[in-house]
Amino acid sequence: MSHLVAPSLLSANFLQLKDEIDMVNQSEADLFHVDVMDGHFVPNISFGFSIIKQIKSQAEKPLDVHLMISNPDHYLRDFKDAGADWLSVHYETCPHLHRTIQQIHNLEMKPGVVINPHTHVELLRDILPDVGFVLLMSVNPGFGGQHFIENAYRRIAALREMKAALNPDLFIEVDGGVGTGNAAALLEAGADILVAGSAIFKASDPKATIKKLKNPA
Ligand code: DX5
Ligand code: ZN
Repeated sequence: MSHLVAPSLLSANFLQLKDEIDMVNQSEADLFHVDVMDGHFVPNISFGFSIIKQIKSQAEKPLDVHLMISNPDHYLRDFKDAGADWLSVHYETCPHLHRTIQQIHNLEMKPGVVINPHTHVELLRDILPDVGFVLLMSVNPGFGGQHFIENAYRRIAALREMKAALNPDLFIEVDGGVGTGNAAALLEAGADILVAGSAIFKASDPKATIKKLKNPA
């Protein structure tokens, strides 16, 4: 199966959000990556339900909603109602991760777990059969446009081994500092989904950049 590309709307021009969404609709991208930040788990605040509902009304591809919020369990149904198709929660925010994943599954969204750059991949072993995807952060979450952290390659490779043994259908998604310069190497390491924000929306030709991320040299 060929890999997926998920443009992160965090770096879009919100004054022209409809045009930005239409650009993604018309591009080779596969998913809309939607970053939700609460100013508590991460130092930044992004956007909430009303914006996501409006994104959903215009988007022609599934919404991959990445929750960077404390107590995500309180809001799972609200994100479903807002239009999330894929929903990921941070390992670091979920003391009852198995229950949280089960609830996302019961709400008929694809459940994912996210880990920060310092969280050991091995900690995912017992939850791996229950999730549809793992999102590996390759920056510390909270902002777009940060530098890629190189340990991501080693982490993707370790997760790939666990995937082969425990859940071959798992998607490995990588998020943060991804662009045309490192896409091929990330895919080679085992990534299945590339998230890119600033590399796409700050490019002079965003649609061509998506095409390059879909077809890296
Ligand atoms: C960061 C977010 C990312 C962010 C990536 O906390 O999870 O999805 O938008 O932005 P870039 O691709 O610019 O690093
Ligand atoms: Zn993200």
